[in-house]
Amino acid sequence: MAKKGTFITFEGGEGCGKSTHIDRLVTRLRQDGYQVLIAREPGGTDVGEQIRHILQYSKQSAAMVPETELLLFCASRAQLVHEVIEPALNDGRVVICDRYFDSTTVYQGVGRKITPQAVTAINNFAISSNLPDLTLVIDLDPRVGLERARGRELFDRMENQSLEFYDRVRQGYLDLAKREAHRVKVIDGNRSIEAIEKQIWDLVKSVL
Ligand code: ADP
Ligand code: TYD
Repeated sequence: MAKKGTFITFEGGEGCGKSTHIDRLVTRLRQDGYQVLIAREPGGTDVGEQIRHILQYSKQSAAMVPETELLLFCASRAQLVHEVIEPALNDGRVVICDRYFDSTTVYQGVGRKITPQAVTAINNFAISSNLPDLTLVIDLDPRVGLERARGRELFDRMENQSLEFYDRVRQGYLDLAKREAHRVKVIDGNRSIEAIEKQIWDLVKSVL
C-alpha cells in the first residue's frame, strides 16, 4: 500500500527538549486538523514495553553486552514499526516518534562503538522501508541537557555514562546530519523554547 502519511522523528541527547517540543508540535498539528500518532522508543507496544523494561532496569554492571543492547533496541523498534507506525502512515496520519533508528546509529554505533556495518544492517532490517520524512536533532551541550534532566527517573543504562560518552553521542548526531542533510536537520537547543518551536514548525510545514 502506498504511504500517505508523514513521518517525523525527534533525536538528541538526554534533556535536549524532545518531549517539550513533541507536545507543542502535536497540539499545533491537532489544532490544524491533522490526525497525529505519537510513539516512544524503546516501547510503544506491549512487546516493546517489556523490552524497554529489560533495557531500563538491567544496570551497566549486569552482564548485558553492547550487541544484545543493539538487538533489543531494534527488536522493540521492529514491533513498533509493524504494529503501529506503518498502519498509521498507511492511514494518512502524521506519525511523531520520540527517538527512532538514528538513536541506535548514534548511541550503539558511535557511543558503544559497534561497527557501522552491523548497526546499519540490523537497523535497516528492523525498520524495513519506513524512513522518516524529517528528523529533528535538537543539539545541546550534554552538560546542559543532563542538568535539565536531573531529578527525573533515570534510564539507568544510558544516563550513568561518562560525559565523554555523551560528547561522542552529540558529535555522532552532528556527523549524521552532515551525511543525511536532506532528511536530518539540526536545531540549536540552547535557545528559548519559543524560538525552537518556531523553527521546528517551519521545518515541519515543509514536509506536510
Ligand atoms: P527530553 O525529552 O529531550 O529528555 P525534555 O523536553 O523533557 O527533554 O526537557 C528536559 C527539561 O528541560 C524539562 O524540564 C523542560 O521543561 C526543560 N527545557 C526544555 N527545553 C528547554 C529550553 N529551550 N530552555 C530551557 N529549558 C528547557
Ligand atoms: P528515554 O527515557 O527515552 O530518555 P530521553 O528522554 O533522554 O530520550 O531513554 C532512552 C535512552 O535509551 C536514552 O539514553 C537513549 C537510549 N537509546 C539508545 O541507546 N538506543 C536506541 O536505539 C534508543 C531508541 C534509545
